[in-house]
Amino acid sequence: MTTIVVVGAGVSGLTCALQLAKQGDGSSITVIAKHMPGDYDPEYTSPFAGANVLPMALEPDTHWESQTWPVLSQLASTTPEAGIHFQKSILYRRAKDEAASFAGPLSDGLFLRNPWFKNLMPDFVDLPKDELPEGMSSGSSFTSVCINTAIYLPWLVGQCRARGVVFKRAVIKHISEASGLSHTGKKADVVINATGLLSSRLGGVMDKKVIPARGQVVVVRNETGGNMVCTSGTDDGNGDELCYIMQRAAGGGTILGGTYMKGNWDGVPDPNIATRIMKRAVEACPALTGGKGIEALDVIRHAVGLRPYREGGVRIEKEKIDGTWVVHNYGHGGWGYQGSWGCAFKVQELVDEVKSDLKIASKL
Ligand SMILES: Cc1cc2nc3c(=O)[nH]c(=O)nc-3n(C[C@H](O)[C@H](O)[C@H](O)COP(=O)(O)OP(=O)(O)OC[C@H]3O[C@@H](n4cnc5c(N)ncnc54)[C@H](O)[C@@H]3O)c2cc1C
Ligand SMILES: *[C@@H]1O[C@H](CO)[C@@H](O)[C@H](O)[C@H]1NC(C)=O
Ligand SMILES: *[C@@H]1O[C@H](CO)[C@@H](O)[C@H](O)[C@H]1NC(C)=O
Repeated sequence: MTTIVVVGAGVSGLTCALQLAKQGDGSSITVIAKHMPGDYDPEYTSPFAGANVLPMALEPDTHWESQTWPVLSQLASTTPEAGIHFQKSILYRRAKDEAASFAGPLSDGLFLRNPWFKNLMPDFVDLPKDELPEGMSSGSSFTSVCINTAIYLPWLVGQCRARGVVFKRAVIKHISEASGLSHTGKKADVVINATGLLSSRLGGVMDKKVIPARGQVVVVRNETGGNMVCTSGTDDGNGDELCYIMQRAAGGGTILGGTYMKGNWDGVPDPNIATRIMKRAVEACPALTGGKGIEALDVIRHAVGLRPYREGGVRIEKEKIDGTWVVHNYGHGGWGYQGSWGCAFKVQELVDEVKSDLKIASKL
């Protein structure tokens, strides 16, 4: 029987805890976290995400997203209580961004003309030229999902609890504390590090490669008519602003985004940015206000979440720290939901390696 402590109750920690609990192999699992679903704090990123699936990995890192899509799409079709619904996603590529090889904030793989994910996402088609708004050189559409994070995160907690996972509030200063926090009282055999942005500030080995990518959004009551829209760039702002719109499942409102401001820790919404976000949104998605201006939007709230951006990409690997195995899973930037299950499968694999390592050690 393995004693596991998961540090972090964002989408990364919760998905790992659920994946490990699903093995039903008698492991005892404790999730400890400073923030839990229900809390709103810019440094606890998960509640602020849209969240939808717009694949952005470049090869060879496509496996996180390609392994996650089947799970999310299955949940959208079979599990209404998870708060996920299907939505048509429309990507518009602006002529000027295409000319600049998409150097914008979501540049990675999302706006490629012939993307790897056209074989993953259902109904992928290129839009006919005469359906493109002014200034766009091309566009594509496909079936995707939008996750109501206010429902999905508590759903993950519930699924974990149903399988015996225990949740505890704790703020740890150093990794060595985590191994002592199992609800069983035993020292943990393995600690999962799913601390997101705060991995940059935690004691022990701080990861200087992790920085915030500030995401400001406006949440409105108005509806989109079923399409999620995302454009490759914007003219205003400092090159770190975006235009995306998505309607959450089950009355979750519509998320208007946004920004991707690297290195910016400001958790307070900027009213000038908010105005730009709303202006772009009503232009890109006239269904929101029936062609009227931003005064016709009904705002629920303005918000900021800080994405855990990591230079060089996500860190998923195992490491022995002060005699305890730690499996790291942090630094997901803007794709923590759409890659969550792929990452949890990898964590599972690494935990299995630790388990067989411990078995061998106990026989010696
Ligand atoms: C505006 C916005 C839009 C986004 N849209 C999307 C989208 O459409 N699709 C998508 O896939 N992703 C999206 N993202 C990105 C996604 O939200 C993140 O990648 C994801 O939430 C990261 O989750 P996490 O679990 O790694 O971190 P977090 O959610 O930040 O969780 C970290 C956890 O670790 C705990 N913790 C940290 N340090 C300590 C400590 N010392 N002691 C105890 N506990 C600790 C915290 O309390 C928390 O529970 C978006 C993000 C933003 C801000
Ligand atoms: C998680 O990783 C970060 C970065 O290496 C480190 O600072 C932190 O101590 C680790 N936390 C745990 C619980 O392992
Ligand atoms: C915006 O949403 C609100 C709340 O649903 C609605 O009353 C209002 O009519 C909507 N505005 C427009 C222009 O559709």
